[in-house]
Amino acid sequence: MALPRLVAFSGNTHRPSKTRALVEAIAAAAATRAPLDIRRFDIVDAGPGLGSAWAREALSLPARRVVEAIENADALIVGTPVYKGAYAGLFKHVFDLVDPGALANKPVILAATGGGPRHALVVEHALRPLFGFFGALSLPTAIYACDADFQDGVLADDGVRQRISAAAGELTDILTAERRPVLSFDEVRVATGQAR
Ligand SMILES: Cc1cc2nc3c(=O)[nH]c(=O)nc-3n(C[C@H](O)[C@H](O)[C@H](O)COP(=O)(O)O)c2cc1C
Repeated sequence: MALPRLVAFSGNTHRPSKTRALVEAIAAAAATRAPLDIRRFDIVDAGPGLGSAWAREALSLPARRVVEAIENADALIVGTPVYKGAYAGLFKHVFDLVDPGALANKPVILAATGGGPRHALVVEHALRPLFGFFGALSLPTAIYACDADFQDGVLADDGVRQRISAAAGELTDILTAERRPVLSFDEVRVATGQAR
């Protein structure tokens, strides 16, 4: 059976990137819990053909690959840098070009980075409604990290690490539960010792 496809998408426009480091850390935590087919993308991968595309048909090949990977994923980790108190414009532009029905019921971990703690609720006030539009299954634990949480580009804050661990657990619980066989009523009675 094919492994669940997890796409880790980060809205950074340069590398190295704190947002990409956060998204990578979440993906790594998920990978320790379940076998997954993980693909990583950022705005740099999409290239300049993303911003100049005002419609899906105008996307360059690299940008189309990113949009299609998101649509074809079984689950997502999405992260954006906070720009002016919200998600970055090009991050939103990617999702403006995603098919509105493509993410329905798919588990999504929401993440963001900012310069300081002031905009921590961007994950709740900006990202959660966006993925609500898609009918995605946004997981309860969203993750925000700011400059002070990184040391030499690596996440160093214990609180953020704990949230990463919690979110990765929520994601892999769903992905592995989806793969368990659904038992019939009679099978459940036998398995729980209730059958006579
Ligand atoms: C145009 C711009 C706007 C920004 N606006 C905010 C902001 O409103 N709040 C905040 O906390 N940080 C803000 N920042 C800081 C970035 O969110 C922060 O440095 C982020 O971690 C950068 O992520 P990256 O390394 O992935 O690019 C802004 C940075 C830029 C370049």
